[in-house]
Amino acid sequence: MIITMNTQIIKIDENQMDPEAVRKAGKILQQGGIVAFPTETVYGLGGDALNPDSSRKIYAAKGRPSDNPLIVHICRMEDLHKIVSRIPESARKLAKAFWPGPLTMIFPKSEAVPYETTGGLDTVAVRFPSHRTAQAVIDAAGGYIAAPSANTSGRPSPTLARYVVEDMDGRIDMVIDGGDIPIGVESTIVDCTVEPPMLLRPGYITAEMLGEVLGEVSQDQTMMHGDTRERPKAPGMKYRHYAPKGDVTIYTGELERVVERICELADAQCTAGKKVGIIATDESVKTYKNRVSKASIKSAGTRNNEETIARHLYQILREFDDEEVEVIYSEAFDESGIGQAIMNRLLKAAGHHVEQA
Ligand code: TXA
Ligand code: MG
Repeated sequence: MIITMNTQIIKIDENQMDPEAVRKAGKILQQGGIVAFPTETVYGLGGDALNPDSSRKIYAAKGRPSDNPLIVHICRMEDLHKIVSRIPESARKLAKAFWPGPLTMIFPKSEAVPYETTGGLDTVAVRFPSHRTAQAVIDAAGGYIAAPSANTSGRPSPTLARYVVEDMDGRIDMVIDGGDIPIGVESTIVDCTVEPPMLLRPGYITAEMLGEVLGEVSQDQTMMHGDTRERPKAPGMKYRHYAPKGDVTIYTGELERVVERICELADAQCTAGKKVGIIATDESVKTYKNRVSKASIKSAGTRNNEETIARHLYQILREFDDEEVEVIYSEAFDESGIGQAIMNRLLKAAGHHVEQA
């Protein structure tokens, strides 16, 4: 479907709120329009969560299958009651610990939330973001914004406004450019309708952090190493998300061996005339640059602080697309802490193609 409209692009600095711009965005949303806005995780594509037409427009703009439910964003704890029919004890605890912040929880939905927003489900995903521009826009829109990540379905989530514009120009009413995004991977999703609560998508709020608050958390078994016979509990997790145009392979094992193996393979592919990309870290980037100078080599960040890697991963995948890279090699990361979120996104980008170095 081709949609052509005039997309306004405005800048809002989180630390210097522009009330006039926020009001304008709020008005568009209240009238059923679609506005992309920054959050602390990735840019979101917002519409009035209680208006079925707005949700339909979001699916159309993204080219997203309509069975893939949206997350409803709120900006006040007391607003939760209107959209859920019950608040489980586990959700109360998690909200106290992590809201506002990069955590989404699944609740039984109330009648106020249309099935267009929940992809036909009787449950609703809710998030209370900490980003001040996001909060201001949600408030201006009336309190409830349905927002998936602001990318075309199947592309990496946008961590810079220019990627939102790349995917959405002419398809939505407004893009709010809020500059850099602090986290870079989507929120952690926890299903609080089951006991013990179940982690459906790893993110900045790690399994360890959830465990500290709840005592016990289970994990969707399809989440990391994707048993394809089982359907993931979060419908969106079944799609080959975050897919760059190049073929991605992840190498596991001792770092020195991994680097050696990637150098050999990348060198051979460069010699064969292929465009090669390497996802490196600050610890290994020099070695690659010395050994395979023809490849496009990008350090995602440092292994001493894996949050830096989470922040840059999607940007790197998009840059490889822009450079028309055909073959991508990546080092693996430990699946603990934020590493679980990094590996979850990388595994999807790689279509679960992992090799031992
Ligand atoms: O960080 C984020 O969560 C970002 C920003 C914009 O807030 N949003 C985001 O939305 O990542 P999206 O649509 O790209 O991912 C939403 C995920 C999908 O995998 C979807 O299937 C799942 O949440 N989801 C939504 N409602 C659900 C429900 N009722 N039950 C299970 N999974 C649900
Ligand atoms: Mg998404």
